Amino acid sequence: MAEFNLPKNSRLVEGKAWPKPAGAKNVTEFKIYRWSPDDTENPRTDTYYVDRDDCGPMVLDALIWIKNKVDPTLTFRRSCREGICGSCAMNM
Ligand code: FES
Repeated sequence: MAEFNLPKNSRLVEGKAWPKPAGAKNVTEFKIYRWSPDDTENPRTDTYYVDRDDCGPMVLDALIWIKNKVDPTLTFRRSCREGICGSCAMNM
């Protein structure tokens, strides 16, 4: 099993705030914890705005929307997308 450790004395910092979708009227803000074990940077929270009129009802739909339309570096795991396998379980 892989083991990941945060950088020594790391602290959570404010990350990038992405722009709101142009012309969207029904927008929800998502703050997403980001951290890469491949560098020495602190973990951060990036802010995204999702157009709920262009997105499905589930949080997973919002994550897919963000990945497809805003930030392709956002990475997460999912399998069944039906709430059955538990693969997409995450802290919220
Ligand atoms: S992908 Fe979420 S429960 Fe299977």
